[in-house]
Amino acid sequence: MDATSPDKIIVEGFQHFFETADGPVQATGLIDLKIPAAEFVTLVGPSGCGKTTLLKAIAGFITPTRGRIVCDGKTVTGPGRDRGVVFQELAILPWRTVRRNIGHGLEIAGVPKAERERTVARLVALTGLKGFEDRYPHELSGGMRQRVAVARTWAADPDIILMDEPFAAVDAMTRLTLQEELASLTFSTRKTVFFITHSVDEAVFLADRVLVMSKRPGRIKASIEVPRRKAGGRDWESFTTDPEMQAICEQVLRLVRDERMDGAARPGETPDPLKEAS
Ligand SMILES: Nc1ncnc2c1ncn2[C@@H]1O[C@H](COP(=O)(O)OP(=O)(O)OP(=O)(O)O)[C@@H](O)[C@H]1O
Ligand SMILES: [Mg+2]
Repeated sequence: MDATSPDKIIVEGFQHFFETADGPVQATGLIDLKIPAAEFVTLVGPSGCGKTTLLKAIAGFITPTRGRIVCDGKTVTGPGRDRGVVFQELAILPWRTVRRNIGHGLEIAGVPKAERERTVARLVALTGLKGFEDRYPHELSGGMRQRVAVARTWAADPDIILMDEPFAAVDAMTRLTLQEELASLTFSTRKTVFFITHSVDEAVFLADRVLVMSKRPGRIKASIEVPRRKAGGRDWESFTTDPEMQAICEQVLRLVRDERMDGAARPGETPDPLKEAS
């Protein structure tokens, strides 16, 4: 792959199987995907279809069973500073205060203390954590801990941000603020973002492009462009009153719903109890 490619992330012939005691489990179907620099891509799909598996492979935590991942022209062989990750499960350090969790990546990178403190203060304000800088994670609510994890990833200023349902545990009001901030921040800083969510509204609101995955073992069954973001960040008020955006939400919702219905028995078929339960 040549380094001048406009694509920041390339997923080529990717397919992943996990080894288990009962033999290999196919986590994803065949996936090919290109994400140009500065694009915000969101991914929706049924539970268990392989979204996290794909994200972990891009992050470098999983070695693909088949195919490869290329970031900035280099094949991914492990995690790197160029890719910041916010996981579905919380990953902050319980023995560090909010301030020192957010500044953790900067400390490792050797950023001088004064600059580190400025960045941390900005992100504390942005994520609504003011007044809690010196608290430890166990003294925070679940949503606040998730905000610390988001702030910590932003602080390290990676080119590529990989987010796995980062706002799922955040209260509704804070979530709206974080989504608006994320939309404008990533737009102005030209970050390349790969963002997993179960919320169709969130997927369309944030994205330049929404990808829909089929049920397990998932492949990418649709890619829907969301045009308006090119003009700048979004706010929820104009989003919810814009007929074009609402039409895209309905289109994505239909694609996601079809996937769910696929698992159900059709007239004349014998229902498969395992499929029904999953
Ligand atoms: N470490 C593992 N070992 C074995 N199987 C796994 C492992 N991790 C994931 N799987 C399986 O791979 C499939 C895809 O999992 P993955 O976590 O990627 O799904 P997902 O789309 O992120 O789901 P969700 O929306 O529920 O988070 C699932 O069937 C899961 O059971
Ligand atoms: Mg997942």
